[in-house]
Amino acid sequence: MKNFISLLQEKIEKAFDECGYEKEYGKVINSNRPDLCEFQCDGALSAAKKYKKAPFIIAEEIVEKCKDCKEFEKIEVIKPGFININVSKEFLTDYCNSIQKEEKFGCEMEKNKTVVVDYGGPNVAKPLHVGHLRPAIIGESVKRIHKFFENKVIGDVHLGDWGLQMGLVIEELKYRHPEWDYFNENFEGEYPKEALFTVTDLEEIYPCASSKTKVSEDATEEEKAKANEFKENARKNTAYLQEKKKGYYDLWKKIVEISVKDLKENYKKLNVDFDLWLGESDSQDYVKPMVEKMQKLGIIYESDGAMVVDVQEENDTTEINPCMVLKTGGVSCYQTTDLATIMQRQIDFDPDEIIYVVDKRQELHFIQVFRCARKAELIDRDAKLIFLGFGTMNGKDGKPFKTRNGGVMRLENLIDEVNKKVYEKMDDSKEMNENEKAEISKIVGLAALKYADLSNQISKDYIFDIDKFTSLEGKTGPYILYTLVRIKSILNKFYENNTLKENKILNPEEDIEKQLLLKISKYNQILEESYIENAPSKICTYLYELANIFNSFYQKIKILQEDSNRLNSNITLLNLMKKIFENGIDLLGFEAPERM
Ligand code: ARG
Repeated sequence: MKNFISLLQEKIEKAFDECGYEKEYGKVINSNRPDLCEFQCDGALSAAKKYKKAPFIIAEEIVEKCKDCKEFEKIEVIKPGFININVSKEFLTDYCNSIQKEEKFGCEMEKNKTVVVDYGGPNVAKPLHVGHLRPAIIGESVKRIHKFFENKVIGDVHLGDWGLQMGLVIEELKYRHPEWDYFNENFEGEYPKEALFTVTDLEEIYPCASSKTKVSEDATEEEKAKANEFKENARKNTAYLQEKKKGYYDLWKKIVEISVKDLKENYKKLNVDFDLWLGESDSQDYVKPMVEKMQKLGIIYESDGAMVVDVQEENDTTEINPCMVLKTGGVSCYQTTDLATIMQRQIDFDPDEIIYVVDKRQELHFIQVFRCARKAELIDRDAKLIFLGFGTMNGKDGKPFKTRNGGVMRLENLIDEVNKKVYEKMDDSKEMNENEKAEISKIVGLAALKYADLSNQISKDYIFDIDKFTSLEGKTGPYILYTLVRIKSILNKFYENNTLKENKILNPEEDIEKQLLLKISKYNQILEESYIENAPSKICTYLYELANIFNSFYQKIKILQEDSNRLNSNITLLNLMKKIFENGIDLLGFEAPERM
């Protein structure tokens, strides 16, 4: 189904054409002055230059052609040559009635595109912290939006499980438990089925190991040597691991198992779920064939012991360093795993697109990796590699968000804090027991967090402001939910004693009704734009504006009224709005409570 504005545009374009002008001048946009009109076309102003005529004359000709069109209630020229348009009530109502019958609001489906969304990207053996919030929230929404358009979408968490941090954790475990069978070269038996450590242990072990590699400037030679030795051992462990050396590899598998179990629980709390739980390690088997391919193409060479590929391009204004494919000693690094993963995804899925939802500070890494992947022909020529770099969630001081005492905040704690805030703000007048209140504040808290994040442009930084995010007023998740809950409760009241005669919206009588229909008529366009531009923020803004209009409508119009045709129409409208809100928040990745 065509979107509403393009139907209007077709008419205006036709008029330009019939009057002897290029039809491209007939572009219709939303009005810049909603107080004067609903839509506008500024094409006469640019046509005037080309056809050397007064814009006003051209606009008059167009208006003359269109004045009897059933689509327009009013079409007029405003000096110097703007065309202001109001749509007819019948045309608008018909359009909303057809949207109402469409399962997907009349959006044009893409279908059959295969898209991999790489998001989340947590590192094993470390707890999720606030830095993991954005990739999870944004990736989940982008994935859902692509699924809505009937593509084959694969969300992959892409665990960080193959780098030096693993070697460090292993080194620390070895230091604490040299007696473990994992470290006994001659061990022939089975390694323990139950892990010998917990996630909580791991969470303490990683920072401890990491701190052992760091020494202060004024450290003694002995201390420096010790730190170096620890690091060197960790590096060796990492190499062993990548060779899948017995014992080391088995211990690593346990670390991943324990860690992933915990990650899954945490992502579940965020209503985020992945189709694939692969990690950097899963690409290891592709490293050798990949390097061979690069050798055959003659693009890889040795530089200071490492293997690299040049990725500088002619039009670059800055220097882009060669992409490191292997570190000294053939050890895999971050680039290695990302490159080999591209090869793996090409073989497994033959994707049309791979979207990376990653901190924007990693942009250079991805420029190098994407260029190298293309040069090495690891991916289909037509496939798109998209870097969706996100900004940072900052504290009120404008710096990356920290706990009160300056530490990195665990994601769990952040979520708890938001839920607590929502709980405190809940209306006590409704009779609810503690349990229900707690459940509802979890649902609303998540909406507050996700909506606040997604309503910003992905690449922008934003400030974590718990009071603002959890407010029932303004552009917030709770406000959207509150509106939806209100709609649902009106519908419940109606359906208690009535049934709907037919699904039919009547022509609007009041201005606010028309405003509401106009907003509804634009939903499919918003979805298409948020899909094409990977911009969930468009859905956020739309839902906010729809909620505002609905709430004015609710103030002015008696929804459950006597006139049975009007009542029927109002309920049809509310059903449609419920469907839009539910769809919108689902695409953003949260849901609504029954009441709040
Ligand atoms: N684990 C990485 C980090 O913590 C993020 C992974 C992003 N995805 C990717 N394909 N590199 O920085």
